[in-house]
Amino acid sequence: MNNISANNIGIANDHAAVELKNIILASSLLQDYTWVDYGCHLEDGRVDYPDYASYVVKALLKREIDVGICLCGTGIGMSMTANRYGGIRAACVWDIATAKASRKHNDANILCLGARLLDHKKVPLIVQTWLRTEFSHGRHKKRLAKLEDITASAQSTSL
Ligand code: RB5
Repeated sequence: MNNISANNIGIANDHAAVELKNIILASSLLQDYTWVDYGCHLEDGRVDYPDYASYVVKALLKREIDVGICLCGTGIGMSMTANRYGGIRAACVWDIATAKASRKHNDANILCLGARLLDHKKVPLIVQTWLRTEFSHGRHKKRLAKLEDITASAQSTSL
């Protein structure tokens, strides 16, 4: 996924981010996309972020969605989970600059956001910016290849 000409966006959240997820889904800035909502919902109560990040990752790896958005209290648990899977480049982002950089330099395919840390009003523009920013290729490509090399060698090496 080198530029996000993405239409199908998977989104998941834990209990800390239900309200933020609903703001994203209702935003007029983001109505041109098709959203697949993997939960959780208000009625689910307290849940564990690794489960919900994994729903998005598995859908992305199966190409059921083009990119993913994962929300929790800080964005940290979601990004930690997602980055355990090969082929996933999850970026914990907090503003327009990090949204752009995570696409241009890192070709991030999952955007993670912290619902307890961000001004919710600013989030739809951060998401739209991320979805519209293309990967720069060039010198960044070989660095992404090194990420996958590290994943492969970490699986086969006992330190
Ligand atoms: C849930 O209380 C909280 O730990 C979670 O949303 C997230 O911030 C973890 O990284």
